[in-house]
Amino acid sequence: MIVPASESPHVQMVVLKSPGTLNRPELVLFSLNQQLVLALEACTLFPVRVSWFKNIAKEMKQDIGVYIMRPEAAFNGYVVTNFCFLLHEAQIFDLFSNKEKTISEAGFVRFVEGKNRKMPLHANELIDFGVRFSIFERPDQSSIRLSDKGVSWLDNRAFAVWMIGGYGAYLRNTIMHSQNDDAAPHKSINGEYVAIGSQMANRSFMKDVFLDLLDEYHPKCLVDLGCGSGARLVTACHNDRECFAYGIDINKDAADLASATIRSHDLRDRVEILHGDALERGSELGQRIARPIDVVMSFMSMHDIFNIYGPREAARRVISNFNNPRYIWVADTVKSEPRCGQPLPIFTSGFELVHAFQKIDLFSRETYIDAFEDAGARLVQQCYLNVPDTYAMIFETTDAGSARSIS
Ligand SMILES: C[S@@+](CC[C@H](N)C(=O)[O-])C[C@H]1O[C@@H](n2cnc3c(N)ncnc32)[C@H](O)[C@@H]1O
Repeated sequence: MIVPASESPHVQMVVLKSPGTLNRPELVLFSLNQQLVLALEACTLFPVRVSWFKNIAKEMKQDIGVYIMRPEAAFNGYVVTNFCFLLHEAQIFDLFSNKEKTISEAGFVRFVEGKNRKMPLHANELIDFGVRFSIFERPDQSSIRLSDKGVSWLDNRAFAVWMIGGYGAYLRNTIMHSQNDDAAPHKSINGEYVAIGSQMANRSFMKDVFLDLLDEYHPKCLVDLGCGSGARLVTACHNDRECFAYGIDINKDAADLASATIRSHDLRDRVEILHGDALERGSELGQRIARPIDVVMSFMSMHDIFNIYGPREAARRVISNFNNPRYIWVADTVKSEPRCGQPLPIFTSGFELVHAFQKIDLFSRETYIDAFEDAGARLVQQCYLNVPDTYAMIFETTDAGSARSIS
């Protein structure tokens, strides 16, 4: 039995009556952008027949990813996540960007041995472990292709980049240093990988409202708080030749990456990147931007800023530091909303875990809306972004500055 219970047409919750072999009457699957994620508490109690889920997924014309939370499975998942991060880093996944592709073993070995980076595994070890972890399949003795699981990893590798590349060392250091107040494990967050992983995840999973917003609001001057890799600034400037943009990021690695992105797109005359806190550096930046600021935006970083200043003060400063910008675009993952006692989607839990480690609170949608409305902006548009609990909220300042470049 399939019962859609959806907050968006893209995220469908289905309740499946299990067949007789399973001793629990119901399981819950969440469909996230064509990926079925088995929300798993139920499956810890009995051996799950993956083929059964696959058949259901096939009937629903969906791919299925099954996440089993038994300790041994979680351990294997951790190992394989690291392995897939390596496959991404060494550009081995790119060999299979055509997911059907079969490549010869000799070609694979040439590719790996031709890399000018030091590889932690030899080509034959990569193949061997890839087959053992069911990432690769060998259709015959001399060739390799991705298994279904490998294809799923190819699609989901943004999460390996974000979690292992961005937060792997941080989580470990935090656990190991938790007795020592002087340690500063947050320094081991790799901001560059957080930014790259976020950008990849945005592209792969989120409904990309950014281009729609650019087309609808045509900003000529915009500021990006927590700009990460700088990709949105490039998109904005490519979208409109008259657009000037400023990006600020508190993480030095991310700010350096953004500067490099801007240089590589030859946009230094239109985009400036600053390293520092969005609202502290933003205050001096606001004072020297002569043109009216059409949009101040924050994609997946306003919760961090709220944690520093508190929601109301942060919203007030966004408006006052940037000279009463006409619009404020906030896209963020909000505190997970209750799901009638059902387990949360896996990625929501990963996101919340990383923030819990950092003692960073997440906020409800109402908190965002109240904070900006209290600061003098009204919500004019909001949109669900396809990822659980993630929304774009568009605010217009009620007392916007006089000269505006938005028609
Ligand atoms: C999840 S990433 C999102 C990056 C980018 N906006 C995007 O959409 O891909 C969040 C970024 O916000 C930055 N950040 C967090 N707190 C900040 C603050 N107080 N001021 C400026 N940047 C901040 C982080 O360093 C990180 O690069």
